[in-house]
Amino acid sequence: MVKICCIGAGYVGGPTMAVIAIKCPAIEVVVVDISKPRIDAWNSDTLPIYEPGLDEVVKACRGKNLFFSTDVEKHVAEADIIFVSVNTPTKTRGLGAGKAADLTYWESAARMIADVSKSDKIVVEKSTVPVKTAEAIEKILTHNSKGINYQILSNPEFLAEGTAIDDLFKPDRVLIGGRETPEGRKAVQALKEVYAHWVPEENIITTNLWSAELSKLAANAFLAQRISSVNAMSALCEATGADVYEVSYAIGKDSRIGPKFLNASVGFGGSCFQKDILNLVYICECNGLPEVANYWKQVIKINDYQKSRFVNRVVSSMFNTVSGKKVAVLGFAFKKDTGDTRETPAIDVCNGLLGDKAQVSIYDPQVTGEQIQRDLAMSKFDWDHPMHLQPTSPTAVKQVSVVWDAYEATKGAHAVCILTEWEEFKKLDYQKIFDNMQKPAFVFDGRNVVDAEKLREIGFIVYSIGKPLDAWLKDMPAVA
Ligand code: NAI
Repeated sequence: MVKICCIGAGYVGGPTMAVIAIKCPAIEVVVVDISKPRIDAWNSDTLPIYEPGLDEVVKACRGKNLFFSTDVEKHVAEADIIFVSVNTPTKTRGLGAGKAADLTYWESAARMIADVSKSDKIVVEKSTVPVKTAEAIEKILTHNSKGINYQILSNPEFLAEGTAIDDLFKPDRVLIGGRETPEGRKAVQALKEVYAHWVPEENIITTNLWSAELSKLAANAFLAQRISSVNAMSALCEATGADVYEVSYAIGKDSRIGPKFLNASVGFGGSCFQKDILNLVYICECNGLPEVANYWKQVIKINDYQKSRFVNRVVSSMFNTVSGKKVAVLGFAFKKDTGDTRETPAIDVCNGLLGDKAQVSIYDPQVTGEQIQRDLAMSKFDWDHPMHLQPTSPTAVKQVSVVWDAYEATKGAHAVCILTEWEEFKKLDYQKIFDNMQKPAFVFDGRNVVDAEKLREIGFIVYSIGKPLDAWLKDMPAVA
């Protein structure tokens, strides 16, 4: 029986291994992590992450050929294939701070593999890593090898949170990079055989190691760039009276552009896009390509601009002050169908409103109050000036309440900001919400989920990103 061990039971390690287990009943899969609470949660009825369809998959194979354990060394020692899916955040200190990937967790995992291994191993990079990480890992392993043969593969993960299980069941492609040696090709083939249990052969791409590593960074950079492009266009639409929906639809009909990922919004979030672009920027700079670095940096700058433009719109529409006014925030997760708040635009928007002394009342169906308070209390990391942390004042956090119902959040509020595209926000009784709000009542729709015309008929002043502005909003001072 082939044995797989995955180091890191997070958003990637948990779902990917659960899907391998369900699709390959003859393979034993053990997911290990240094975090006991995380492993306990994977072994409980309440999984540590929310992902549609995940519960069913885990429950179908947990205890049969899928296991979660904190006994990292034992399972690494026993495995034939070791996936490493640990976190690779942006470095916050030292050389490359604010841009480079922090490979501390990766390096410690590699050293531990070298320490405990007694048989040959295929080590698979599942985490998103800088180009040439495989070479560094290879060095750590071979310099401590005790005669053991290691093959390093790059197998970046392309799942998106919120649709992880569907993405894993039917991936657009699986990418495997390996050394172009007989041993390297054999290792690639071994991993290919795992995926071939359910992925059509033509969807499994094999490349050299560096192409696979760079493809993941490139894919995230291209995806984020599309969002920043349409968001940049949304600002121009508001200034000119064009409608970003109509523009997106029209350009998306061009088969060279395609219709996906063209929704204007308050900005992208999630743990990956910003971190991976910063990493790409750093790699470009290190390779003497400042023009290329600046090109990609602009994608993040537009994202920051979009978030501050949204806050400015809220404040300027409400007579240039939100001080003491209750503002309801609907949605805190970085996208629907996940409870993940890493780099969510809601953090920057809420901090912007708090900075103007608003009373913010937040509702999200999947994010706990403790998580929201923790996110808002955290110092904002200034990626361009890593030495200047911008602290949120403790009093600001006191201006925040977290409630478990959209109607409670909006009761007595002057404005509603929709920051996550949860389906339930489309179906709320907006007449009831309007009746219980201060007047004039505003809706600032950061995800374009509501029917703005219907809300205007009720009496709301509505701002939808990239759409022609209400007369009220047009009369207010211009937003920079
Ligand atoms: P995560 O933070 O949810 O999970 C990482 C886990 O690794 C944590 O539970 C941590 O305790 C564990 N860990 C760290 N060092 C360890 C060690 N030495 N031994 C055992 N466990 C250790 O991270 P997530 O979101 O799963 O991301 C993992 C990697 O996958 C990152 O490189 C990320 O860029 C990449 N990725 C993430 C995607 C996402 O949607 N979250 C999508 C595609 C790639």
